[in-house]
Amino acid sequence: MKVVIASDHGGFQYKNTLLDIIREQDYEVSDLGTFSEEPDDYPDHAEAVAKAILMKAGERGILICGSGVGVCVAANKFRGIRAGVCHDNYSAHQCVEHDDVNVLCLGQRVIGIELAREIIFTFLEARFSHVSRHQKRLDKIKAIETRNMK
Ligand code: RB5
Repeated sequence: MKVVIASDHGGFQYKNTLLDIIREQDYEVSDLGTFSEEPDDYPDHAEAVAKAILMKAGERGILICGSGVGVCVAANKFRGIRAGVCHDNYSAHQCVEHDDVNVLCLGQRVIGIELAREIIFTFLEARFSHVSRHQKRLDKIKAIETRNMK
């Protein structure tokens, strides 16, 4: 599976540490930045990951900022992106199995690095269930996008 990862300055340290850990597990990971702790703007990094997913440069995305929330809000502005903040293991697999989430958002200031590592692998190993009730809800989300996003 190809994975794309990015952070703002608030997630820079976790992004670098987690990138190495993910690569050790034989995932192909592209680092889309940021590349220093210089203060920058989380929407830029959310856009980079969202576009990479939509252009099929990666199947799953990981975004890290201080809280996980800012990058999540920004990533969800792209049609076809389903981003979620998950700071527990249950959400990390259920969001894929039920909601077909394709971008995981984490907050460096919220959870420890070991939990972040576990959540990432839980998310990457999870698959959409294709159960009809979940597919129906996903279709409704796509219909909302069609009605409301240009
Ligand atoms: C940066 O200070 C911080 O606002 C950002 O990383 C993020 O947490 C926003 O949601």
